[in-house]
Amino acid sequence: MQLIDTDLASRTRLTGMLEAQKARPGQAMDSWFYQSPLVYQTELDGILFKSWLCAGHISQIPETGDYFLFDVAKESIIVCRDERGQVQALFNNCRHRGSRVCEQTPGNRKTFVCPYHGWVYELNGALKSARQMDVVAGFAHGDHSLGKAQVNVCHGFILINCDPDASPIAKEVESIAGPLSAHEPENWKIAHQQTYPVAANWKLALENYLECYHCATAHRAYAKLHTISDLEDNIKQETEEMLARCEQQTGVPGIGDLVYKVYQHADSPGGGVECSRYALYPGHVSGSEDGQAVAPLLGKLQGYDGGLADFQFGPLTFLIVYPDHGVMYRFVPRDQLNTDMHITWFVREDAEQGRDYDKEKLTWLWHRTTLEDEYIIRRNAEGVNSRFYQPGPYHTEYEYACLDFVQWYLARMTEASQ
Ligand code: FES
Ligand SMILES: [Fe+2]
Repeated sequence: MQLIDTDLASRTRLTGMLEAQKARPGQAMDSWFYQSPLVYQTELDGILFKSWLCAGHISQIPETGDYFLFDVAKESIIVCRDERGQVQALFNNCRHRGSRVCEQTPGNRKTFVCPYHGWVYELNGALKSARQMDVVAGFAHGDHSLGKAQVNVCHGFILINCDPDASPIAKEVESIAGPLSAHEPENWKIAHQQTYPVAANWKLALENYLECYHCATAHRAYAKLHTISDLEDNIKQETEEMLARCEQQTGVPGIGDLVYKVYQHADSPGGGVECSRYALYPGHVSGSEDGQAVAPLLGKLQGYDGGLADFQFGPLTFLIVYPDHGVMYRFVPRDQLNTDMHITWFVREDAEQGRDYDKEKLTWLWHRTTLEDEYIIRRNAEGVNSRFYQPGPYHTEYEYACLDFVQWYLARMTEASQ
């Protein structure tokens, strides 16, 4: 899917910029990487559509025919449950002359009917009927199914990859299955979902998420609760005490396990998983305005340990899990200068709004934190897109994940530009 003519001069420029960036390890990336259409198209081909992305959660499509649309960049993907109960991720492009087949989201359908000339598709993407095409010599229905992405449903999360050759992420997720399954995310429901558009390249939004150097300055409410807004040495005691009590207090063996296999440490270039547990400051048990519980305990957890879990699936999807609720963070590029941050709040499926949780209290902290992030990311983009921008050094401790991301990114881009 080469959308622009990457002529020799462009390729040479990209290769030269990548090599120059690699020669400045530890430094933030040049402004060009955040603005250039050539860079963006190379990222779509070589990174985004070869990576595992989280399209949603199985609670969104419990019945046969249930579907929703997942839009990434200029692409649209129909995520649905077919007649056999399988989750499908179908490219929303008619196999006749390309029209979007499905426009409304979410919904329930027996078939998908293209609004242009009326071709009809089964829920698994197979072409069911093509009006009056029987007069066209050699036309075979079997040759015109909707294209599809790979789907791995892991612990309730619908992970998709548009690259047919990508290795399954399900295998990688096995390495974090212990701490993850303790929270039983397959038995969660969505309490609230909100999209926060930000006028910034997707890498700026992602890099902002990957570091908590900015937490103390930008997120006062968050930093009062979460120890990772400080240096490891300063929070050693809180971390050690939480890790010493977490198994006993939650009743889950191995809940404090650490796995860090993302970006260049990942088992596959478009995959990667991470899990870790870190401490809240004493007296707090959840991510809320006052640090107190806002919903019933998740999964197998039997108590609060003053800690929370952090997970990552692939390069762009993150999950923060307090003992009583989960918050999923997804970064979805719209174009080279715009990104959507999709935030989803989860509670256990039998929790009832009004009785067991209050949506305002549940979403207070991360709604506020995301609005703060939108502001700092937008202002960051304005500065990075300026002609006078000169990249500086990353902080080796606070910004280690940005350093890993950049190393992985440059390697992937080098591969994609060959
Ligand atoms: S483009 Fe869909 S039926 Fe013609
Ligand atoms: Fe932030």
